[in-house]
Amino acid sequence: MKLLAPSILSADLSNLAQQIRLVEMSGADWIHCDIMDGHFVPNITFGPFLVKAARKCTKLPIDVHLMIEKPDKYLDDFRNAGADIISVHFEEVVHLNRTINRIKEIGAKAGVVINPSTPVSVLKDIAEYIDLLLIMTVNPGFGGQSFISNSERRIVEAVELRKSLNADFLIEVDGGINKDTIKSVLKAGCDVFVAGSSIFHNDNISAATAELKNLLLT
Ligand code: DX5
Ligand code: ZN
Repeated sequence: MKLLAPSILSADLSNLAQQIRLVEMSGADWIHCDIMDGHFVPNITFGPFLVKAARKCTKLPIDVHLMIEKPDKYLDDFRNAGADIISVHFEEVVHLNRTINRIKEIGAKAGVVINPSTPVSVLKDIAEYIDLLLIMTVNPGFGGQSFISNSERRIVEAVELRKSLNADFLIEVDGGINKDTIKSVLKAGCDVFVAGSSIFHNDNISAATAELKNLLLT
């Protein structure tokens, strides 16, 4: 089962409920929320209050991607706001095993994110404990960037790692995903596809969502 996760980073937040409704009706599987603090990444977006608002708009799982320093401090806040999946960056967290355990303890699925320059192999001793591995296909911080070309190879490595450990985590990609780039990451073995600007910066949000979803069904 391949899943589409529109990122509301690129949505018109003055119309959040309507934007979420449009993607939900057109085939979205998860709602992806990009949390940026201006420290771990240069940009600032939104926090638990907006996640709580998104939670009220949909029954779909809320997929929270934390691009913040010291994410451990905020896990409970995001879970209480309604996050179903919480992912933290490998590059930021020192005691990753503890953080993963904590995310599960509070009832969420636990994900680890790696930047484009972080090798998949560093996850060897944490991968069997996670629910989701998010592979960044742009440098995190902004929507609308171009897909980085060695990403397919990294997805294949993640698929191999999963197999070698007999693990069952989902593999997600995030950044520069559109109707062209989605094909090669799908072929590489990815499970969950985040898309921001290719869905929301489109005159027809419903059609853009349905087009990506159809490519995943073929
Ligand atoms: C980037 C974020 C992405 C972003 C993707 O730092 O993690 O989720 O919304 O946006 P697009 O799809 O426009 O590259
Ligand atoms: Zn993201």
